[in-house]
Amino acid sequence: MALNYSLLLLLLVLPGALPFIIIPSQGSMTHADITRTAIVRQLTQVCRSRSSADGAALALQDEGMSAARLLTTCFQLDSLPKFVEAFEVIKDSNVRVDIRHVFDEEYHFDSETFEDGRSLISSGLSFIKGSIQQGNFREARERLGQICHTLQDFYSHSNWVELGNTLPNSNLLKSGVSIGNIADVNTPTCTDCIDNNCENNILPEVIQQQKLTSGYFSLTSSHKPDGKCSHGGIIDLTSHQSPVGGINKDKTSASHGHLHSTAAEVATNATVQLLEDIRVSVGDSSFLRLMGITRSSVLCFVIDTTGGMSDVIKEAKRVASSIIDSTQGTANEPSDYILVAFNSSNVGPLSHTTDSGKFQQWMSSLTAGANGAQTVLSLSATEMALRAVPASSYIFVFADAPAKDSYLMSTVTALIESTRSVVNFMLTNPIVSRRRRSYGAEYVSRVSNPANQLYQELAQASGGLAIEVAAASLPQATNVIVDSTTSALATLLQATRNPGKADDFSFVVDTSVQNMIMYITGSSLSFTLQNPSGVSQSSGVTNGPLGTIQAVGNLYRVQLNQQVGPWRVSISSNQPYSLKVTGQSSINFRFDFVKTFSEPVSGYIVTKSRPNTGGNATLLLTVISSSTVNVTEVSLVEVLGSGKVNGTIKSLGQGDYLVSVDKVPDFQFGVRLAGLLDSSTQSSNALFQRQSNTQPRSSNLTVTAQNNSILQPGSQVTLPFTVMTNGTEGTYTILSRDDRGFITSYTSSLNLVNGSAQGVVNLSVPANTPFFGSDTTVSIVAESPGTNDTNYVVLRLSGAAEAPILTLSLGLWVSLVASLWHLLQS
Ligand SMILES: *[C@@H]1O[C@H](CO)[C@@H](O)[C@H](O)[C@H]1NC(C)=O
Ligand SMILES: *[C@@H]1O[C@H](CO)[C@@H](O)[C@H](O)[C@H]1NC(C)=O
Ligand SMILES: *[C@@H]1O[C@H](CO)[C@@H](O)[C@H](O)[C@H]1NC(C)=O
Ligand SMILES: *[C@@H]1O[C@H](CO)[C@@H](O)[C@H](O)[C@H]1NC(C)=O
Ligand SMILES: *[C@@H]1O[C@H](CO)[C@@H](O)[C@H](O)[C@H]1NC(C)=O
Ligand SMILES: *[C@@H]1O[C@H](CO)[C@@H](O)[C@H](O)[C@H]1NC(C)=O
Ligand SMILES: *[C@@H]1O[C@H](CO)[C@@H](O)[C@H](O)[C@H]1NC(C)=O
Ligand SMILES: *[C@@H]1O[C@H](CO)[C@@H](O)[C@H](O)[C@H]1NC(C)=O
Ligand SMILES: *[C@@H]1O[C@H](CO)[C@@H](O)[C@H](O)[C@H]1NC(C)=O
Ligand SMILES: *[C@@H]1O[C@H](CO)[C@@H](O)[C@H](O)[C@H]1NC(C)=O
Ligand SMILES: *[C@@H]1O[C@H](CO)[C@@H](O)[C@H](O)[C@H]1NC(C)=O
Repeated sequence: MALNYSLLLLLLVLPGALPFIIIPSQGSMTHADITRTAIVRQLTQVCRSRSSADGAALALQDEGMSAARLLTTCFQLDSLPKFVEAFEVIKDSNVRVDIRHVFDEEYHFDSETFEDGRSLISSGLSFIKGSIQQGNFREARERLGQICHTLQDFYSHSNWVELGNTLPNSNLLKSGVSIGNIADVNTPTCTDCIDNNCENNILPEVIQQQKLTSGYFSLTSSHKPDGKCSHGGIIDLTSHQSPVGGINKDKTSASHGHLHSTAAEVATNATVQLLEDIRVSVGDSSFLRLMGITRSSVLCFVIDTTGGMSDVIKEAKRVASSIIDSTQGTANEPSDYILVAFNSSNVGPLSHTTDSGKFQQWMSSLTAGANGAQTVLSLSATEMALRAVPASSYIFVFADAPAKDSYLMSTVTALIESTRSVVNFMLTNPIVSRRRRSYGAEYVSRVSNPANQLYQELAQASGGLAIEVAAASLPQATNVIVDSTTSALATLLQATRNPGKADDFSFVVDTSVQNMIMYITGSSLSFTLQNPSGVSQSSGVTNGPLGTIQAVGNLYRVQLNQQVGPWRVSISSNQPYSLKVTGQSSINFRFDFVKTFSEPVSGYIVTKSRPNTGGNATLLLTVISSSTVNVTEVSLVEVLGSGKVNGTIKSLGQGDYLVSVDKVPDFQFGVRLAGLLDSSTQSSNALFQRQSNTQPRSSNLTVTAQNNSILQPGSQVTLPFTVMTNGTEGTYTILSRDDRGFITSYTSSLNLVNGSAQGVVNLSVPANTPFFGSDTTVSIVAESPGTNDTNYVVLRLSGAAEAPILTLSLGLWVSLVASLWHLLQS
């Protein structure tokens, strides 16, 4: 029994039918590879049709065209972070089908579930088209990943290619038409494989009569109808019952592995067809947006409208107009415009448009109230913006009063860490004290306004700036907003010293970097820069050999003259300060924490949670680049000091790397990437470095959540969650919030006496919720008593329309993986 139980658990964590395995093995294509290749092929076609329409001749090759080259050649985008973000969502939800739908045969076309599988695809397609029309691109991408998975499995799990087909079965995209001559349940389809050789196990009459069949598959029972083919492989219990063996083509070593590449090729072309079907239906511009082919910047303003803010509002309007006018038609033109106004009693509503004219109208109708306020709802407004902007966006918060809603601090931090967005604060409540020096000159000394501490912490967590400046001087500081709308913005270095102390920093500039800007915020400080040739410039020299220094409020903005090689900056101050160096570059990266599993197939799944202090962790790092680079080092670097933890790097191909860290440090860290631009040149000029904007922390807490329900209009769902710690015992505070206000109640405190406790979040989806708007993102944050340790889980709950989609959350998945580990170790 014990063995069976452990086998069952082992199987539970395995993909339903191990379709096109998750991490590539020798010569095999994964679902991610197939989807990526299909997207590139299809976009190449779109590009062709567009360029022939323009009469421009583009020399595009079908194969071997990287996404990066495609986007630069065809769509004139000099960076592809939004494309990579969109692809990651599609890929992740594709992979998750193997986790959420382990036992659902129709998701894999197993066991001759042809009609049900097709219906998932065709109803999914109409759902995607509807979501796109409603502007819900995130939900459309998630469903696209799901149906791509099912569609691709058809070619691996059925005998379509064994029947000699080389073209996709396009009727899988439609409802009400025949998808073939399906073998009925009484028709035998296979014979035993002989000596593990399954090449000819499909009955000749099935081939002759062109009967469509697929392998039976079960993890729990060996029973299948007489004479039927199995999926195959050791974990498929049906494959041990006669006819033994299987027919799947998931990888080259599978039962029908000799047909793996044929099946993968047809699956790729079938995916191209699916994408084309969506494009024809929704039109080019919506389709390209679905694929994340938009310009990379968004303009997102979160503005305090209490009394006293009128000069600030006026300046925000001016900057918005100036950005809109100067970027129109260029690569820097924002793709989205978002506005959230707030005061001491009211937040929002959030206004989101792709139309710059509309945004200007909203801006021009903004006015400051009559009375100032002691405190404002700035964190609620920031949270609202974070839940709406595309991942990795830049947000600007304008305020002159501290937060009234500081209880949202850890929720906002959780959203910052899980979306990797950058939050900048323009704070017009500086403290300025004037003193006379003995020789009569006025000496202005500044200290940071203690009321702004929360804003500074949020800025620091996100890699943003907390600028303190008098309202009258704000126009000299808003350059930083213009800087952030630059496309292809990359961060080279970030650090903070708090308390302040003199320190030296170094960073390397590579040939791909242009328009370098250094930002230093802090008071009473001075600094000296040194370029790779050894030339220096001090902070007192406004226009010097190394660049132009602009000082306003607590900000120094330094436009650096381009020079490749190692730079240095020495900062001297006894007040807290922060340093950030950015540039425009086609080389950038993104990362997520993932949970990995390795036996007997390898895979990983993205987690939206902090890693455990002192534990091991794995990052999925994607290098965004149009040329090949050699990643030599990935490390977690201390924000407040010089601590550093190196990761072990494993390349997955296509710019993806799994980086494992043995012991996650206790300090707040940034992720630093270093490498060589071109693996053939080994000169020092080939070195590059990048650093993440987001600066997360680790935690002694673990928060997991699970539910396999869907959010249908009118439904009530209970989301159980668990908080665990090996740290402080006591009463933990819980805060759970979601995008759409579906949460009705939740366990708001938990007593972690024995290191673990469970709670629930209750959600209710109003019956009048729009058809394509019942998805939501739920954050559950736990705060440890007495310490500032918090952890969270951020999870997506899908909405449903038509075909109910059973979703099983990450939490359950992670706990299954954990059980597997324990079993393997015991
Ligand atoms: C798939 O599509 C590509 C490009 O359209 C074509 O060259 C190739 O022959 C197709 N593959 C099969 C198996 O039909
Ligand atoms: C806050 O904003 C709302 C909506 O704009 C407005 O109705 C309200 O009067 C404002 N409250 C204060 C105190 O300014
Ligand atoms: C908590 O447990 C993790 C692993 O489970 C361990 O690495 C870490 O050191 C523990 N922390 C404490 C404070 O004991
Ligand atoms: C990572 O940590 C988990 C939990 O503490 C442990 O079970 C696992 O063996 C560790 N993995 C590695 C590679 O050290
Ligand atoms: C991290 O790696 C770099 C380069 O690979 C090496 O120079 C450095 O000593 C390592 N640091 C630690 C703490 O292992
Ligand atoms: C990457 O760089 C390292 C260090 O210089 C070198 O050992 C390695 O061979 C390079 N890898 C590739 C693929 O060029
Ligand atoms: C986790 O617990 C250890 C030991 O009690 C402590 O040193 C560390 O600061 C804690 N980590 C966090 C993030 O609070
Ligand atoms: C999820 O919520 C539904 C509806 O409230 C409930 O019936 C179900 O038991 C929950 N699932 C889990 C795994 O707790
Ligand atoms: C969640 O809903 C259930 C059923 O409606 C209710 O019994 C429970 O008290 C709710 N939990 C919380 C924490 O409000
Ligand atoms: C904690 O564990 C002890 C011993 O196992 C048990 O007696 C006690 O009831 C537990 N307390 C809680 C709150 O679960
Ligand atoms: C928690 O953070 C606040 C400010 O963020 C700080 O003042 C306080 O000292 C911290 N408490 C602990 C126990 O670290």
